[in-house]
Amino acid sequence: MHDISQYQDFFVSYLKKQSVNKEPKNLYEPIEYILELGGKRMRPVLTLMTSEIFDADYKEALPAAMAVEVFHNFSLVHDDIMDDAPLRRGSSTVHEKWDINTGILSGDAMLILAYQYFEQYEPVVFRDLAKLFSKTALEVCEGQQWDVDFETRKDVTIPEYLKMIEYKTAVLVAAAMKMGAIIANTSEENANLIYDFGLNLGLAFQLQDDYLDAFGDPETFGKQVGGDIIENKKTYLYLKTLEFSTPEKVLEIEELFTLQLDENTEKIETVKAIFNESGASKATQEAIKEYTFKAFETLEKMDIEFSKKEMLRTFGENLMGRNV
Ligand code: IPE
Ligand code: IPE
Ligand code: MG
Ligand code: MG
Ligand code: MG
Repeated sequence: MHDISQYQDFFVSYLKKQSVNKEPKNLYEPIEYILELGGKRMRPVLTLMTSEIFDADYKEALPAAMAVEVFHNFSLVHDDIMDDAPLRRGSSTVHEKWDINTGILSGDAMLILAYQYFEQYEPVVFRDLAKLFSKTALEVCEGQQWDVDFETRKDVTIPEYLKMIEYKTAVLVAAAMKMGAIIANTSEENANLIYDFGLNLGLAFQLQDDYLDAFGDPETFGKQVGGDIIENKKTYLYLKTLEFSTPEKVLEIEELFTLQLDENTEKIETVKAIFNESGASKATQEAIKEYTFKAFETLEKMDIEFSKKEMLRTFGENLMGRNV
């Protein structure tokens, strides 16, 4: 086994060797741009780490880790168009730096490039990886559509929200880990348990992403703080505010979340104050812990050494402490 920062280094040096420096430049440059902007590299690290947890060599998992990261970056390029986001990882989003059409087509190409990485595996492993990947990618699309549909709906429920974030975010974290298990050819039980671990970690991760979108530090967050409020996203913060507030406050916040303004500073400040006063901020932080601990519970059932469980636990704890 290696530690988290080593897996990160292994992955980044592999990534740097994958040049897509081809023509036409306006298709491939945005791909290189987004992939080299950085990011936490959480999903590929999880693929590499999981492969070694189940006794493979991380090198075997590098193409799958790359597929997952390229897919993730594809989803970000299209997500930033859909969310009208100006900033990603502290720099301009692809559609801001180029234009929307470039973002669409470079994104499409990335989805295909992601699939190509699976061609490096032998047929049985290829089939299992591609099958999991296709299922996951379609679920991400479903989650993304719900996310957009919810912007203009007033009656979104917490179970609907949880399903939405499971699909748009958690399934990819889960699949990233299960791919490591598939490559290591571990038992189906272990593969399913690690998927469950990743799913709960992914739910905690998206809850925290929502929290940071409102309360992150603009200096370090790398995305536009308040972006979800501007876009009227029905996040856990919003839904818990409705649950905890008086009928008058509910009306006020519902009204605020129909607005589409050019100048949003005041809306963002008002909404953040309501999130805090209502107790929704606190409830969100509790939910992040709850799903992280749920992930830790699956570890108990897993047939792996204690030190490996500790590693996964540390990974989850570090994620909870993140500010980007
Ligand atoms: C952002 O993912 C999209 C979500 C699912 C919340 P990350 O927060 O992992 O983004 P990077 O890759 O580290 O920039
Ligand atoms: C992103 O959700 C989910 C996917 C990209 C599939 P968000 O829209 O919350 O992600 P960020 O906050 O822009 O990174
Ligand atoms: Mg977004
Ligand atoms: Mg989005
Ligand atoms: Mg977000």
